[in-house]
Amino acid sequence: MQTYQDILVDQPQEGILLITLNRPDARNALRNNSLREIADALRAADDDSEVRAVVITGGEKYFAAGADIKEMAQLGPIEALTDVRPQYWKTIAAFSKPLIAAVNGYALGAGCELAMHVDIVIAGAGAKFGQPEINLGTIPGAGGTQRLVKTVGKPLAMKMVLSGEMIDAPTALASGLVAEVTEDDKTLTRALALAAVIASKSPLATRVAKEAVLRSFELGLEAGLNLERKSFSLLAASEDRREGIAAFLEKRPAKFTGR
Ligand code: CAA
Repeated sequence: MQTYQDILVDQPQEGILLITLNRPDARNALRNNSLREIADALRAADDDSEVRAVVITGGEKYFAAGADIKEMAQLGPIEALTDVRPQYWKTIAAFSKPLIAAVNGYALGAGCELAMHVDIVIAGAGAKFGQPEINLGTIPGAGGTQRLVKTVGKPLAMKMVLSGEMIDAPTALASGLVAEVTEDDKTLTRALALAAVIASKSPLATRVAKEAVLRSFELGLEAGLNLERKSFSLLAASEDRREGIAAFLEKRPAKFTGR
């Protein structure tokens, strides 16, 4: 398996890839190289049919403290406009397989935005989420003004973006930013267990389901329902759907092959 500088990548269970952010001295701040490595690892995972789900995590006290402020300080307007980061974010957003984050501690700025790029966030009880860019005299630059509103709604998003105040895990759960809150020492275990459940499903169905849910951010209801119907119809041609239904009727576990 390829080695990286800012992340650790391993395969703790069959079908599951684990990416661990690993710049503890900088509180896992996401410098350009970190994002490039995450994007590279996800691109490789997309190409690897053995990988059925990916979990991304950070440290015990820090998921990620945001963009690397020291690197950001070097950016003038032209450098910001021609920045490589949006390309890496696009690759992360385009990852076609289920992506789960196990978040402990601080998920701030680009760290919070990374959490919003994944499909399901499992948070430890002590997790804190925030968009503190306003404290630096700037604004979020990786979707924090857009995805946050669509995820938690305008009032809370405005409060976070305008004040820079963090929210705790119960507030993140109540507002829909995270799917589950666990004890801090169980976050990764729970995320891996959920990834294993998802990895046991049809990879075709999870891929199509993820795409349909994500498209709801952009499509109106009629267009979204149309996409859902077409995707549902397409899956009717799959061996996995035949197998899933046959297994149910024969009262046995299904064996999905992704065909
Ligand atoms: N970028 C670069 N370095 C960072 C960093 C960041 N985002 N966050 C922390 N560090 C570095 C510190 O500079 C410090 O380095 P030195 O030891 O060399 O001085 C080291 O990590 C430890 O930092 P602290 O002493 O502050 O650690 P702490 O445990 O007391 O506090 C923290 C942790 C609450 C996360 C605090 O570090 C903090 O508030 N960090 C900044 C958070 C922030 O403003 N994030 C937004 C970044 S901008 C952004 O993300 C823009 C975007 O959307 C594109």
